[in-house]
Amino acid sequence: MRSPAAFKSLKIQAPKRYWTLGLSLALLGATSCANAQQTPPPDAAMKPIALKDAFKNDFLIGTAVSYQSLQGNDDASLALARAQFNAFTPENSMKPDTLERNEGEFRWKDADHLVELADQDGATVVGHTLVWHQQTPRWFFQGENGAPVTREVALERLRKYITTVVGHFKGCVKQWDVVNEAISDSPNEVLRPTPWRTAIGDDYIAEAFRAAHAADPDAILIYNDYNNDRNYKRPKTVAFLKSLLDQGVPINAVGMQCHWQLDKPALDETEEAIKQYAALGLKVMVTEFDISVLKSRNQGADITARENGGNDSNPYVNGLPPEVAAQQADLYKQAFEMFLRHKDVVRRVTIWGPQDGTSWLNNYPIRGRTDYALLFDREGKPKPAVFALLQAAATPVAAPANP
Ligand code: XIL
Repeated sequence: MRSPAAFKSLKIQAPKRYWTLGLSLALLGATSCANAQQTPPPDAAMKPIALKDAFKNDFLIGTAVSYQSLQGNDDASLALARAQFNAFTPENSMKPDTLERNEGEFRWKDADHLVELADQDGATVVGHTLVWHQQTPRWFFQGENGAPVTREVALERLRKYITTVVGHFKGCVKQWDVVNEAISDSPNEVLRPTPWRTAIGDDYIAEAFRAAHAADPDAILIYNDYNNDRNYKRPKTVAFLKSLLDQGVPINAVGMQCHWQLDKPALDETEEAIKQYAALGLKVMVTEFDISVLKSRNQGADITARENGGNDSNPYVNGLPPEVAAQQADLYKQAFEMFLRHKDVVRRVTIWGPQDGTSWLNNYPIRGRTDYALLFDREGKPKPAVFALLQAAATPVAAPANP
């Protein structure tokens, strides 16, 4: 089955430069990845130009898609994701604790559905994530009576899982976060202690990339982490990735999660990281971008780093003050201007969710707060950050600063 016919996109000239008629963009000739039901074209009503159209000559612009969206319980967020973005990362539906919670019992339904929707839209699916110390069932590491498995058994399970999962989505999932968050935050060590590392040894990372490449040689394979755009973690990430590349490990890109906080911008550090990863010959994907407007001690995205909220930890329950929204818009804009300067290297920017209401940051690192980290508000309306990004997209960028 082929993707739906292309819909015409008619730009209306001034005075409203960003408005367009009939937004839908379909890629001609894309191979179908599922028995997709074709959706009717959206109304040819006037609406603001979509982000995916604004950045179509620059890089993919993605979002995370929740399991609620994929299970029919949040149609509004799903519609927003499909209207605005052209790359979809399942927020949870391709993690090992979803795909193979019990050994040998695969649950493909939600992930397959995402592939099917992306196929209809001509969008790219990003697989997230094969090897991680979180959201991975214990059975991988346990043998009879819960005893730890040998290296051989763990390696066999790692390879089998990757071969099965990457094989299932072969040709449909174009990019994979193969290994997530393997580098330690501690100054005293390079690799984080994880169940996979304990069971297999340091080469679990190289082995994961080799297995993924064998299962789908055309997929773009990504090493993904948080804070690898920050000075404290970048040098050891660069050194580690270089050692993998020197051994011929098939790795194509670095994923910089970019879970940022409004009061801790470090654009210069991120730009330096892009340059250094590019110098290794790697592409850069911004994989989980969001900008929390709330304070927290924690600077990373270690999902176990929980905090207790004090009285002043949740200040915007009744709405985001316009000046904070403007500050956030400005930081998003500066970040995108920088990504555009390096668009030869930065090939995708994914925002971690379509709208503020469903962002993981409402429950992380403190549960039950009201954060406003994303581009669209709880009603799906564009925030000032969207207009700032459309402006950035429409402004010519200086020549790429990369070697
Ligand atoms: C988060 C999801 O957004 C949450 O819904 C889930 O409860 C925990 O994981 N780094 C990652 C993502 O690589 O998978 C995490 O996603 C956020 C931090």
